[in-house]
Amino acid sequence: MRKFLPVDDLARDERFAAITMKERFADQRTALNIDGAAPDRPRTKFRLTPERRDASDGARGLMHGIFVGEIQALEGAGRTCFDFETAGVAKTGSAAAESSDMDVPFALKLDMARQCWDEARHVEISVKLSDWMGTEIGQYAENTVLFAAACSNDPVLRLAGVNRALEGLAIDVFTTMKEFGDLAGDPYLEFCEDWMLADEVTHVRMGSDWLRKVTENDPERRKKALDFQGVVDKLFSYGGTRSDSDESPIGLARRFRSLAGFTDDEVEAINEVSIQALDERKARIASARAAADHATAE
Ligand SMILES: [Fe+2]
Ligand SMILES: [Fe+2]
Repeated sequence: MRKFLPVDDLARDERFAAITMKERFADQRTALNIDGAAPDRPRTKFRLTPERRDASDGARGLMHGIFVGEIQALEGAGRTCFDFETAGVAKTGSAAAESSDMDVPFALKLDMARQCWDEARHVEISVKLSDWMGTEIGQYAENTVLFAAACSNDPVLRLAGVNRALEGLAIDVFTTMKEFGDLAGDPYLEFCEDWMLADEVTHVRMGSDWLRKVTENDPERRKKALDFQGVVDKLFSYGGTRSDSDESPIGLARRFRSLAGFTDDEVEAINEVSIQALDERKARIASARAAADHATAE
């Protein structure tokens, strides 16, 4: 079997349609259309709650995003088990060279195998929940950035980018969806999200623990991994879609992040990046609106 599979070679049937981050951000139906973006208008709460007029489509779209994210998390964790040699094991054949810094401890692979088991279950839960919510597989597009972050040739970068940044985001998303299920009076949604949330906290914790352990004596590699995590966090701040502000559809799940091994400073840094992204997005919308008003007036 081929090692280090590129993102374009992921196996998908005809139901799936991939889009890029750029296309996603250009979609006019996203959180870009917030009224609070215009300084002269009243500030709008945009947290995903059942009161929002687009709540049904928003929740189904988010659930489909969770579903494809689960598939990619399964693929990424499986790849990390397979792509790297096990540290401390005598090698044979073409792998019989020196041990490499990129070899991973057997216990790390065991954690990744456990994660595959969890993610496979999450895929099944997500399919059933989507069906329950009235969504078909492929009804929304798939963004494959999660798997792209799992393509690094350094396993520690994969753990920082996928387990800490993206599954950290999953903690925020599941918490928001769990609250949504509670408010909407849907116990299936509420409890399924709660069960998956418990697993995601464990996955992020694995990322935090292994990052610290593997880079214990290699501050440079740790810095590189944390920088990579920062880039992924910024990319997935979705123009402020996730932050403490109620202008963001998804909240920042501080308590669960702390259980998953994030320090208060790290959570605060993510919040700051997200608020900054939200402000930048609002400024872009305000100037686009001003330009449109100007063009109409002429
Ligand atoms: Fe998951
Ligand atoms: Fe996960």
